[in-house]
This record gives sequence, C-alpha cells and structure tokens, in this order.
Amino acid sequence: MSLPGVRAIPSLTYQQAVPPFSEHFSETDGDDSIDQGPAGGRGWDGRAASAHEQAAIPLLSPVEMANADGGALVGRLRRSPNAALFRATFGEHVLDNAALSWNGALLALEVFQQSAPDFYPYTSKYDAWLRGKIELSAHAPRGLELFNDPAKGNCAQCHPSSIKRGQFPQFTDYGFVALGVPRNANIPANQDPGYFDLGLCGPYRAAFTNRADYCGLFRTPSLRNVALRKTFFHNGVFRDLTDVLHFYVERDLSPERFYPGRSDGAVNKFDDLPSRFWLQINVEAPFRNGGGKPALTEDEIHDIINFLGALSDGYQSASLDSSEP
Ligand code: HEC
Repeated sequence: MSLPGVRAIPSLTYQQAVPPFSEHFSETDGDDSIDQGPAGGRGWDGRAASAHEQAAIPLLSPVEMANADGGALVGRLRRSPNAALFRATFGEHVLDNAALSWNGALLALEVFQQSAPDFYPYTSKYDAWLRGKIELSAHAPRGLELFNDPAKGNCAQCHPSSIKRGQFPQFTDYGFVALGVPRNANIPANQDPGYFDLGLCGPYRAAFTNRADYCGLFRTPSLRNVALRKTFFHNGVFRDLTDVLHFYVERDLSPERFYPGRSDGAVNKFDDLPSRFWLQINVEAPFRNGGGKPALTEDEIHDIINFLGALSDGYQSASLDSSEP
C-alpha cells in the first residue's frame, strides 16, 4: 500500500451497460449500423471484458491490493472473518481449493456490483427531469443545450445525454478517443522521459502493442457523478471541472496554459504522447485546431458545469422546490 499508481481510479458505477470490447463497435439504429471503431470493455483501456475480469485487476495489481497471486488472496480469505460466510455460500470445503475460491471471490464482487441501488441508482436531478418529475433549474437547462449543441460544447457526441431505446443515457458512447491530455508530473512513473501510458496500445493492455493507430486512445468515461470526482482524465492531471472545460475549449488556442515550455521557448504541446501518434488526436468541436474563437464563453462553461452538477445521484424529492441545480 505504499507504491503510487499511474492512473486515476475509474468509477465502478454505471458500468452495467458497458458492452464487451470490440474493435468494430456498431450500435444498430434501424438499418444503418456504422462501424464506430474500437469501443467497450472496462477500465481506461477497456481491457477487462466483464466485472468478473475487472475485479481481478486491483486484487493483483502491485499498486492496488498487491496480492502476489490468487492463492495469496485465498490465504487471506481463509483467515478473514468472512470465511464462514464464504463457506456457507460456496460450500464447506471451498477454501481448500484455491482455484474455486479465487473464482468465488471474483463472482462475489461481480454480483455485488449488480446491486442497482449501490451502482446504478439513476437518482440524479437530471434523471428526475427525464422522468418528467421536475424542471431543471438555474443554469442547467442552458448548460444541457450547450452540452448537446454540435457547434458549442459538442459533448454529447461522445457523452450522449438523451434516452435511447428506452434506456437512460450513460453519458458515454464507450468509444476510444485520444484527447492529448497533458502529462501529469505528479505521477512518479512520468519522471522517466521514455515512459508513456498509451492506453489502448499499452503498456498495461497487452493485446494491441503493435497497433500504432491505437496509441493515446482511452475509453470515454461516463459523466454521471462526475462533479463528485476529485481528479479528471486517465492520468488525473486536472483537479477541477473548470480546468477540464478550459482544456476542451482552449487546448488548441492557448496550449501554453496546459503544456510546459520547451528549452527553445516553444510550447511542448501533447507532451504525454510521442509525436508519431499525434495523427489520431481528436480535433473536432469543441477543439479549435483551425484557430478562431473559443467554442464556449466563460459564462457558457459555467452553465455546462452547472448541468454536470445535475448528474450526481442522491437528489432527494424532498428538495423539489430547491433552486439549487
Ligand atoms: C471526441 C469525444 C469527446 C468529446 C467531444 C468530449 N469528450 Fe469528454 N472525454 C472523452 C474522452 C475520451 C475522455 C477521457 C480522456 C482521457 O482520460 O484521456 C473524456 C473525459 C472527460 C471528463 C473527465 C471524466 C473523468 O472521469 O475523469 C470530463 C469531465 C469530460 N470528458 C467532459 C466533457 C465535456 C463537458 C465535453 C464538452 C465540452 C466533452 N467532454 C467532450 C471524449 C470526449
């Protein structure tokens, strides 16, 4: 428990609808199914196909629970106060069989995450609005409009916000995109100038290390409960939603605000991705790689943040008349 990690902790909420990873994802809308490219899977690089597989990652990661192997976890289970319950669930002799016990532990974690009230309650103010129960207040309606508008925030292109086929929005299309987020100097691994976390093409995901076109791509996260997070993006480089919004709007117009300077005085833009991978960095709105005016004003950024606040679960019907978003 003393080794620092390399990525921000991804939320485990609202993962129930994440499709397994596919290189050729298509959401069939009537007849026109389009190949969206790589999408799905759990974690920032989508390398876990299910909650079952995902649970193994933190249990074995040296920077998380740091069990040497499945057997080490089973040894801990044998000595834990949960051993009796574990035996009652999986059989009297289960703990004598390491493989069976390891599988049982992952299954228990998987089933726990199928508890809707804990992991996907849909109790945000926005959900109440989608149900037609309340009006969105203050700046949130304007924020939603800007969030959806392809010429303004364009956020919904990757973080869809509307009900589709009777499903409440997950605020992710599960796609993989390179945003070129700045390097986080607070991650000790980044002290090595030769080290890069390239997401879909590795080094933590092993399947696509030869796919240069996948380097720098990370899975679009859900924005549900995002206002409750303390760090943003896969490397946690931003600590504040305002900084995230400024990054989207000004990455191309004022890169010196986000990236360090080089010795020759130029800005070291996209400093967390080797230049041979820059081709896949996304340049659609709200980015402005052709120059021009920022996609959003300060007031509009404020409105979108206000709207994001309406995505936090735990909105109580008792405060229906509150003007707080
Ligand atoms: C082209 C697709 C795309 C668009 C458009 C887009 N996002 Fe994102 N968003 C992503 C991806 C991909 C990530 C994760 C990137 C990473 O960590 O490297 C992300 C991450 C975020 C995060 C951090 C969430 C977390 O848990 O760390 C926030 C907040 C966010 N987006 C908000 C927005 C807002 C607001 C807009 C509109 C102004 C927007 N996004 C537009 C794809 C997109």
